[in-house]
Amino acid sequence: MDSEAHRAATRLAYDRLAPVWDETDDNLWNEALERTMVRRLLPAELTGMSVLDAGCAAGAHAEWLAAHGAQVTALDLSSAMVRAAQARLGAGALLVGDLDAGLPFVDEVFDGVLCSLVLHYLADMAPALREFRRVLRPGGWLLLTLDHPANFEDRRDDYFATRLITDTWMKKGVAVEQTFWRRPLEATVDDLAAAGFLLERIGETQPDEEARRRFPEEAAMIEGSPTFIGYLAVPAARRTPPG
Ligand SMILES: C[S@@+](CC[C@H](N)C(=O)[O-])C[C@H]1O[C@@H](n2cnc3c(N)ncnc32)[C@H](O)[C@@H]1O
Repeated sequence: MDSEAHRAATRLAYDRLAPVWDETDDNLWNEALERTMVRRLLPAELTGMSVLDAGCAAGAHAEWLAAHGAQVTALDLSSAMVRAAQARLGAGALLVGDLDAGLPFVDEVFDGVLCSLVLHYLADMAPALREFRRVLRPGGWLLLTLDHPANFEDRRDDYFATRLITDTWMKKGVAVEQTFWRRPLEATVDDLAAAGFLLERIGETQPDEEARRRFPEEAAMIEGSPTFIGYLAVPAARRTPPG
């Protein structure tokens, strides 16, 4: 599949998922694992920070950030997702956009960028990461989450290969086929470094007690295995040419 066809398929899948994405507000995967990890890695004090939620889907993270005092700008490829986010957030800076096509913002305008479970849809993450670096102020932060690279269905798969994976998801009776990239840890950390980021922390998800209590069967299935990974990175100081 070429990248244009892949983007169109991703957009269509999320347009179809938008009316039922609220299922993720009460599930193990997004809510109890990924969003909980994001909240753990985010700066403790967000009041007054200008934050870009890049790939916001229906606005779950954006809503939480705004409730904690951030001024949120949210962007997504799927116009149906942006409408769902609009309904959830009310008035706000929400826009349809493609992270593979550059960001429509001036340099150094955000204190933080959250990019949650999005960049695995891009064949090459590097241009989007460079854009995140460009729009971040010095002292800002990037929180990037992805499927955990060690989260294999089949142990015979080659961990070190960058591979396109196809999966079928079912949410409230809506079935979609999703196609995304799986990369080894080193590839993501290299891309972050090449884009001008220093890695500060990583997070890895596993069910906590509350998740085990609320979602016992699903939690048991993944006990001892990581599902998602979060990278908290900060802009490296720009190197000034000698002389
Ligand atoms: C798994 S969802 C994100 C989940 C969200 N963070 C949450 O907690 O609900 C991935 C989102 O990325 C968006 N997306 C995929 N490719 C994109 C691209 N090239 N540019 C912008 N958004 C993209 C999809 O439309 C979808 O809404």
